[in-house]
Amino acid sequence: MCKKQSQKVSHLGSKSFEIRVFRREDLDRVMEINVTCLPENYSTYFYLDLFARFPKTFLVAVADNSVQGYIMCRIERTFSKLKSLHLAKLCHIVSIAVVHPYRRRGLATDLVFQALKNAAEEYEATECFLEVRVSNDPAINLYSKLGFRSTRRMSGYYMNGEDAWEMAKPLIEEGQTIPGVA
Ligand SMILES: CC(C)(COP(=O)(O)OP(=O)(O)OC[C@H]1O[C@@H](n2cnc3c(N)ncnc32)[C@H](O)[C@@H]1OP(=O)(O)O)[C@@H](O)C(=O)NCCC(=O)NCCS
Repeated sequence: MCKKQSQKVSHLGSKSFEIRVFRREDLDRVMEINVTCLPENYSTYFYLDLFARFPKTFLVAVADNSVQGYIMCRIERTFSKLKSLHLAKLCHIVSIAVVHPYRRRGLATDLVFQALKNAAEEYEATECFLEVRVSNDPAINLYSKLGFRSTRRMSGYYMNGEDAWEMAKPLIEEGQTIPGVA
């Protein structure tokens, strides 16, 4: 039997949105949202390669019958951002964006929540991390609210020379999965 793809339905007052796994036919819309919302843009190959390797953490938010936001992640075996000299499986949030009329309605919160849940349950990731511009207050607030903390400042990380905060959050605590909102 087909596993249900829709992960969650949330309510936006009278409207509603759904978080589901990315599909190949979402690609043009996801690339459009990315170009509209972020200076870091990617090739078609980049998106499809991430989807092929980590489909459970490439999610979209659908509202009013159209994709209005996305999150894509990469699972990496590398050193923990939270425990020194500790190798771990980390979920790296590569990109997340929500288009303007749909912002501040919880779409990004649910995208991150579901991606972290899937990263822990499907890929056994024990930690999540990301980079964010030091000037990006909306995103920093979002991640802080979700339990991420700054782990280091990365000087000149972005193409225009801006610094990034690396932020990270554990996905397990004492052997128990604690995905999503802290
Ligand atoms: C960052 C972004 C993804 C947030 O999406 P969103 O769907 O509006 O986020 P949510 O509605 O889930 O907001 C959750 C929390 O994040 C914080 N937040 C979101 N937007 C904010 C803003 N404009 N100003 C201050 N805090 C904000 C708030 O704490 C908010 O909780 P609240 O509404 O209860 O106060 C969206 O603003 C966006 O696409 N920005 C451009 C792309 C980008 O910067 N991506 C991140 C790159 S690292």
